[in-house]
Order: sequence, then C-alpha cells, then structure tokens
Amino acid sequence: MASFRWVNLFIFIFNCFLTATPVFSDSNAIPNLLDLAKEPQVFDWMVDIRRKIHENPEVAYEEFETSKLVREKLDELGIPYKHPVAVTGVIGYIGTGLPPFVALRADMDALLMQELVEWEHKSKVAGKMHACGHDAHVAMLLGAAKILKDHEKDFNGTFVLVFQPAEEGAGGAQKVLDAGVLENVSAIFGLHIHPNLPLGEVASRSGPLFAGSGNFEAIISGKGGHAALPHYTIDPTLAASNVILSLQHIVSRESDPLDPQVLSVAKFQGGAALNVIPDSVIIGGTFRVFSRKSFNQMKHRIEQIIISQAAVYKCNATITFFDEAKPFFPPTINDDGLHQYFHTVAESLLGAGKVKGAEPVMGSEDFALFQEALPGYFFFLGMEDVSVEHLPMAHSPYYKVNDDALPYGAALHASLAVNYLAKLHQEVAAVEEKYHDEL
Ligand SMILES: *[C@@H]1O[C@H](CO)[C@@H](O)[C@H](O)[C@H]1NC(C)=O
Ligand SMILES: *[C@@H]1O[C@H](CO)[C@@H](O)[C@H](O)[C@H]1NC(C)=O
Ligand SMILES: *[C@@H]1O[C@H](CO)[C@@H](O)[C@H](O)[C@H]1NC(C)=O
Ligand SMILES: [Zn+2]
Ligand SMILES: [Zn+2]
Repeated sequence: MASFRWVNLFIFIFNCFLTATPVFSDSNAIPNLLDLAKEPQVFDWMVDIRRKIHENPEVAYEEFETSKLVREKLDELGIPYKHPVAVTGVIGYIGTGLPPFVALRADMDALLMQELVEWEHKSKVAGKMHACGHDAHVAMLLGAAKILKDHEKDFNGTFVLVFQPAEEGAGGAQKVLDAGVLENVSAIFGLHIHPNLPLGEVASRSGPLFAGSGNFEAIISGKGGHAALPHYTIDPTLAASNVILSLQHIVSRESDPLDPQVLSVAKFQGGAALNVIPDSVIIGGTFRVFSRKSFNQMKHRIEQIIISQAAVYKCNATITFFDEAKPFFPPTINDDGLHQYFHTVAESLLGAGKVKGAEPVMGSEDFALFQEALPGYFFFLGMEDVSVEHLPMAHSPYYKVNDDALPYGAALHASLAVNYLAKLHQEVAAVEEKYHDEL
C-alpha cells in the first residue's frame, strides 16, 4: 500500500535526522538535506543567484528581471510553472501535480533606498536595494527546488513553489491568493532571515508572531496667508499639531493595555516659507494591532479624531487608508499544530537546542494573508556569525546577507515540505487503518 511506504519513509528520514547520520541513497530515501544543500553544486548555484538578484534590485510589482531569472532557473531544472501570477509572480510545481499540495513561499521585492555597502555585488540601481534579504529568500527556495526535483519520484503529492512579488507593503500575497493558485493547498511555509540570530539556528512561536498593520494619510486644509496676520488665516499647522496629540490618546487611554498596539505619525508636511501659513498640511503614519477587531476600532477612531479635531480649528480633513495601494496586513499568527511540527522537523535537521522561541514583534509580514486563507507557518532563520561580524538590522543601508545561511534555508524548506507530505500520508493511512479495524 502506498501509504505504508510513506510511513516507513517518514520514520526513516526522521530517524536519520535524529541520529544526524547521513542517509545513503537507497531507492526510497533522501540523503541528509542539509549536507545536500551545502554541496557546491547547490551552494555555489544559490550564491550566484543571490548576487545576481542583489545587483539588480526591483521594487513591488516591478520584479521583471528577478522573475525572469527565477523562470530561467526553473527551466534549467525542468520544473513547470505558472506565470505571470500577481504581475511578476511565478508558481512552480514539483511532483505528481496531484494532491496533496504543500506550498513554500519566497518574496522577491527590494526597497527604495540607496545601498551603502561597498562590495563586488553592490546594487547597480541607484536608490534601490535588497536590504531585507528577499534576494536570499529567492535563492533559498530555488535551492530547495533543486534538491526536491532530484527526488521527485519519491513523493506522492506536489510541492508548490511561490515566488511572490511586493511583500514590502503592497500586498503581493493578496494578489497571489486572488489568482487562486493556492486553492487545495494543505499548508504553506515561509521564512525570514534574521541578522541577530546565530547561523544554524531558527526561531519562532505558536500564535501571534507579527502585528497586523495599517497606514493612513490625512490632508488638513485651512486658509493660507501672512504669518504675521494669523487672524486672516485658518491655520492648518496648529490644527494638525493638535490632531497628532489627540491621536496619541487612542493607545494610551482607549485600548486595552494588555492588547499591544502602536500608532505612529511619521509624516508631517506643511509650508515652505517662514512667514507664510500654508493652505494645507499633510500628516500620515502607521498603526499596528494584533486583531481585526482592534484594527477596525483603531481605524474608526483615527478617522473620527482627525476630522473632529481639525474642525475645532475650523479646518477640514480628508483621510485615506490606502485600501488598494497598501492594504491592511492582518497579524501573522502561527498555527499551533504546525508549530509542533516545525519544532520536530527543524530540530531533527539542525540539532538539539537550535530551535529557539521568538517574542512577538510590532513589525508585520504579508505572509499573514496566506495564513488567513490556509494553515501557514512563518519562522526566522539565523545568519549571524559573530566570529566574522555583527550584521546590521533589516532595512539598513548597510544591510548584508551571510551567504552561509542559504543552505540552511534551502534544507529547511525542503525538509518541511517532504516531511509534511509524509505526515499527510501517514494521517490518511491512520484513518484507513481505523476504518479497516471497524469493519
Ligand atoms: C504513489 O502512489 C501510487 C499509486 O497509489 C503507487 O503505486 C506508488 O508506489 C506511490 N509512490 C510512492 C513513492 O510512494
Ligand atoms: C481544487 O480542487 C477542486 C476540486 O477537486 C478542483 O475543481 C479545482 O480545480 C482545484 N483547484 C486548483 C487550483 O487546483
Ligand atoms: C470646509 O468644507 C466646507 C464644506 O464644503 C466649506 O464650506 C469650507 O469652506 C471648508 N473650510 C476650509 C477651511 O476649507
Ligand atoms: Zn522588509
Ligand atoms: Zn522582508
């Protein structure tokens, strides 16, 4: 029976990981995935891909060359794919093309910022940079694809490779979901490399990992005029200042202190001259919450406070929440069953003590959108080697990736996917067995 083989394969792989003995190929088995990923034909290949993408960073929905490179590599491996999905996205398929489906996700977009690291593969595009490591995420998923493709015959099921555009605020994940390509997928896994977590370690948690995030901008309009004759004007600068102070009351006075929330006004643009009161002022910012309910409450109060407080100063206000351009990201909440599963698989691959807990953070990830649609799990992958250097945080112009992390990412992707298929087959087998006993 097919399912029997699966149980055996799972236990076999599992035991081999536990004992950390490399598994030598027999017709059924997969060698130690980390060893495989560290071999030059996988490692060097990933490093080369990472550097090519790093040199040519592309921002949200403009990942045309990155997408082309991904497709070239998939062609090279003989992996079929769908394209375009969500403008520049690519969805690759390894396996039988039949269920069960397990998805692995990499984001592809860069940031609008100037790289300040001087090195051979520095960004060749002024004002754009891969400062969040998405170039590494793409290389890791291709590395996993290379490993999995070689063992395609050993699996009943399909690995779905999701190369996603526009993670940095523009909601690429939603467009991937809208394209319907994740229908019937049993689970999705994603990772983010982490500059302050040691190489060879991973960290995550069950439940909320990242906050949900929304953005707003308001135009507060009055009537401009001579700054020495304020009584002929309606001053939007003073109105905006009071709006900002009033907004601070939402978190400090209205929200539950045990429900973490942030509201930051990060933008304030007014006049230009020192003696002219401007016609209008623009303010804007971001807010972070851990539930849809808190999101809706916060959004409602932001709107109410801006309009009413502006009115106190005889000003009008219009507000946008960028529902189209920068949609709300829900909180990233890890499924508890997948957390237990991740812990077992990652510890088997990396060794005891290498799987750490993580505290929730107020940052956000559009992976959360996948998790609203299907069971999903997100974790941090360490890349820090203090014997070499301390690495700057993500979104720093000095951001650097330690390429030694690439095989860990590739092996974890592959291992999570392979063992998950095995687990699904095992569960089906258990149900069949039960029916059999009952008959
Ligand atoms: C996959 O399923 C088919 C049909 O059930 C079976 O013949 C085959 O042995 C299975 N392959 C593996 C690798 O388990
Ligand atoms: C999902 O499964 C349903 C029912 O088997 C099928 O009609 C549909 O085409 C599948 N969707 C995808 C994207 O494979
Ligand atoms: C505010 O809007 C009202 C209604 O459209 C308008 O009459 C008024 O002049 C506006 N005030 C300012 C300061 O723009
Ligand atoms: Zn980022
Ligand atoms: Zn990122």
